[in-house]
Amino acid sequence: MKVIKVKDQLEGAQIAFDILKEKIENGAKTLGLATGSTPIELYRKMVASDLDFKDMYSVNLDEYVGLSKENPQSYYQFMKEHLFDTKPFKESFLPDGMTNDIESHTKEYDAILEKYPVDLQILGIGNNGHIGFNEPGTALNSKTHLVDLQDKTIQANSRFFEKESDVPRQAISMGIASILKAETIILMAYGKAKADAIAKTVNGPVTKEVPASVLQNHQDAYVIVDEDAASLL
Ligand code: GLP
Repeated sequence: MKVIKVKDQLEGAQIAFDILKEKIENGAKTLGLATGSTPIELYRKMVASDLDFKDMYSVNLDEYVGLSKENPQSYYQFMKEHLFDTKPFKESFLPDGMTNDIESHTKEYDAILEKYPVDLQILGIGNNGHIGFNEPGTALNSKTHLVDLQDKTIQANSRFFEKESDVPRQAISMGIASILKAETIILMAYGKAKADAIAKTVNGPVTKEVPASVLQNHQDAYVIVDEDAASLL
């Protein structure tokens, strides 16, 4: 795991963008994408760039259960707004939060990941160390699955909703094993609220209690952090 300390989110986004550009120049076909505030500057750089994703595929980490594609808080809408509307991919996959057969849907999503192996996975991190929506305690060999969100996550994500009770209690997320299959992984973290999770991710034991710590076992993972997120390293 390579830890890169940056001044701020803009510098972090530039470094992530340069890695992404090089991966594409070297033939990357599929990007694994994340939502949340962390990757927004990276997506801005992708939008402003001359890169073209029309021959590429994207697979997103997760989606809230119970939010339709039209819901402004859905991750589908987030991706449309921040990337896909201006830079469409040949095909973009996100879990379907409205599926009425979660079991088959998660299997289908695993099949998509088999068909389109992720060349570069973008990750943020939850304050509790989650990646995607894999909360502490998730099995390290997990594939796509239904997640019960923890209170800390519901609270943290409530800033995107009118009130906390509007935050969905469940999500569908790629599993930890699925994420680790990506050839290259970039995790970005900015701000003090991430400092404890980053310290445990980088220096702690590899444990399912800190899902991001599994990146220590990945052969090509970058952790890009600003000074606040790196403050407990
Ligand atoms: C959500 C997403 C994660 C994201 C995390 C952090 O829980 N499922 O993929 O990394 O939020 O969000 P933010 O980047 O806004 O801090």
